[in-house]
Amino acid sequence: MSQTPSIIPIPVSCRLTGGALFTLTGKTMVATGGDAALRGVAAQLAKLLGVAVAKSATAGGNVIGLRVDPALTKKLGAEGYALTVTANGVVIRGGGAAGVFYGMQTLRQLLPPDIERFGWRAGGGGLTVAAVEIEDQPRFSWRGSLLDVSRHFSPVAEVKKYLDTLALHKLNVFQWHLVDDQGWRIEIKKYPKLTSVGAWRDSTVRVGDEPNLDGVPHGGFYTQDEIRDVVAYAAERFITVVPEIEVPGHSSAALAAYPQYGNTDAPGYAPKVQSRWAIFPETYAPKPETLAFLDDIFTEVLALFPSKFIHIGGDEAMKEQWEASPTARAFMKANNLKDGHELQSWFIRRTENFLAKHGRRLIGWDEIQEGGLAPGAAMMAWRDVKWAIEAARLGHDVVMAPTSHTYFDYTEGTAEEEGGAIGYQTTLEKVYSFEPIPIELEAAHHGRVLGAQGQLWRERMPSLPVVERRAFPRLSALAEVVWSPAERKNFADFRERLNGLLARLDRLGVNYRRPRADAVAAPIPMVPHA
Ligand code: ACM
Repeated sequence: MSQTPSIIPIPVSCRLTGGALFTLTGKTMVATGGDAALRGVAAQLAKLLGVAVAKSATAGGNVIGLRVDPALTKKLGAEGYALTVTANGVVIRGGGAAGVFYGMQTLRQLLPPDIERFGWRAGGGGLTVAAVEIEDQPRFSWRGSLLDVSRHFSPVAEVKKYLDTLALHKLNVFQWHLVDDQGWRIEIKKYPKLTSVGAWRDSTVRVGDEPNLDGVPHGGFYTQDEIRDVVAYAAERFITVVPEIEVPGHSSAALAAYPQYGNTDAPGYAPKVQSRWAIFPETYAPKPETLAFLDDIFTEVLALFPSKFIHIGGDEAMKEQWEASPTARAFMKANNLKDGHELQSWFIRRTENFLAKHGRRLIGWDEIQEGGLAPGAAMMAWRDVKWAIEAARLGHDVVMAPTSHTYFDYTEGTAEEEGGAIGYQTTLEKVYSFEPIPIELEAAHHGRVLGAQGQLWRERMPSLPVVERRAFPRLSALAEVVWSPAERKNFADFRERLNGLLARLDRLGVNYRRPRADAVAAPIPMVPHA
């Protein structure tokens, strides 16, 4: 049986002190000592528990105290925290406000799942919490999940629900895949056709009946106000939203709206918002008006997203339109670029320069390395970890997102169980076994591995319930991979603790995939009910 209460990801250290229990009642108060930086966290905790935030800084009695402790900042970093439960009260000290927020997520998991619906009333008269001392901090700084809203759109309410579930897992990066061949989803004021035209496709290939089309228009986009709302919502949960704006490929939808910015002199050039899942030949053309178009788009994007990192895609850009376009060929010749690969690199370097000039950093998929990585660029390895090893050795930061372990569009069960397979079978245990630091990477470069990320590509995930079923609990396993010390990992123990988390996801209406019966351990009672 697990020696740790069912907390996922498992904390660095957790000691049940055996002391008298804390009792949560309707009179319990959340107190911040007047620290304005903790107002948001306190309000969220009070709302969850159905209790009040103390007005005075010196509230006595039955209190959950939150504070930022500079001594802990040094010891555990801004995301670290110490949580102490005694009969006298609960204290969450964070290295920063983020740490206090993560301490709150842990406290939440010390309480029974029913608090998600009923707050303190879940226990009838009062809820007891075991006396514990927990000290905790994340292993990696990039604990991400990508959500593709191009292949299938999700309105803001669904995105927020997804963010809530990420926050419960102490995940802190949301890569918002806003742009692809099948739909452009972000309002750009200077180019209204990106959304009036580019956000809509006339049909979608039928799931399970490909290549037939359903004949049903699909689309949607986020206004800039909605984007700001999501970014603020995420920030309250200490999640950074990293927008992904694809350059120079995956640009069919943008070029359907503004065909003049593509390779108009390539034979057969006819961009459209795509209905099928494939890689398409459209790329941005290397000409001044296209570069101005891209700069304008990124200018609006930077104003909306405070994230230091901006993801520019860079994957799967086909080279044939460039090679067939007299304009692109002349550009390559004039700039000493010997082929499409070098032109792809040229685009990435130019974008990197633009972002650097505005104080941001570029991150892109591993193809951006093919013609040489721009000096300050970070790389997200998806095809093979060998790209990450190479980039880290050259001094580039990397995020691990390999298809082998982190593509949650790949099916979890067998093809038979899932009604068809996508990619490799990627079981819960396989995800859990993932080690973000490649074994071949020398210790001197380990610091280059910022973390890892789980991908929800939505070709075959038309709705949020389907996304949730693919994401959870595999993303729960990945959360432990990126948060917890490697030596704390143990799949059997995780599998036991997972029962508590799944019960919580039930209360939250998250449509996770129930692990197979033969893998289910007996549920363990975690916190005694009063
Ligand atoms: C990717 O899956 N094309 C990054």
